[in-house]
Amino acid sequence: MAANGKTSSMFFLIITASLLAMTRTIFAYDPSPLQDICVADLNSTAVRVNGLPCKDPSTVKADDFFFSGMDKPGNTTNPIKATFSPVNVRQVPGANTLGLTIARLDFAAGGFLPPHFHPRASEFLMVLKGSMEVGMVIPSQGYKLLNKTLNKGDAFVVPVGLVHYQRNKAAKGRSTVVFAALNSQNPGLTVLANSVFGATPEIDGGLLAEAFRLDEKTVQGLQAAF
Ligand SMILES: *[C@@H]1O[C@H](CO)[C@@H](O)[C@H](O)[C@H]1NC(C)=O
Ligand SMILES: *[C@@H]1O[C@H](CO)[C@@H](O)[C@H](O)[C@H]1NC(C)=O
Ligand SMILES: *[C@@H]1O[C@H](CO)[C@@H](O)[C@H](O)[C@H]1NC(C)=O
Repeated sequence: MAANGKTSSMFFLIITASLLAMTRTIFAYDPSPLQDICVADLNSTAVRVNGLPCKDPSTVKADDFFFSGMDKPGNTTNPIKATFSPVNVRQVPGANTLGLTIARLDFAAGGFLPPHFHPRASEFLMVLKGSMEVGMVIPSQGYKLLNKTLNKGDAFVVPVGLVHYQRNKAAKGRSTVVFAALNSQNPGLTVLANSVFGATPEIDGGLLAEAFRLDEKTVQGLQAAF
């Protein structure tokens, strides 16, 4: 019995030790992919990187890490009267692999960003001018809507993957400027209406009618609009 006890506690020690050794290489979550899809090419011998290949480090210059123009308003002459101007690795090559995107958002009066989500990033929003309502939906809480109206100097964080919208409810002439920071160099953008009603080729209208509890005619109208 005593020998048995000794054996099992030794076994327990070994298991604990190997589990501890394993935890050193376990991450809290998977590394974020930096592309929307990635079909494996099992034969490729090309270099694979999660991002873009790096240029020769001896050729880097300050301008690789620099961007000018965030003070310039985006063009809000469009159907949503709003614009999202990102500054990420495309504008600042030095940001490659750093997991960062910043952006300037401009809203004319009545401007809005329709319900959307970023599959690879959480988003911090800070109002620099005017005001903005931000709303987000928490699926695990019975699709509960949390919303808040932010004024100059107010900030709000939208967790990764949550559907959210932003709008400037202010009356005519009162534009809004927002600074945003996202923790991916390629946050991704999925606009719900476009994904559902604007897919090419179209998702079967009968299916959408059932899924959205609408009649097919309404669905066809929505599909034509997107
Ligand atoms: C990989 O190589 C095999 C055998 O040569 C070939 O049949 C297959 O099509 C290749 N796959 C891709 C994705 O190139
Ligand atoms: C803004 O966009 C509209 C529509 O695309 C265009 O007609 C207009 O010239 C643009 N304005 C500026 C200042 O670029
Ligand atoms: C939150 O959303 C509700 C429903 O859309 C709206 O009536 C309300 O004004 C919003 N609250 C804020 C603080 O923006």
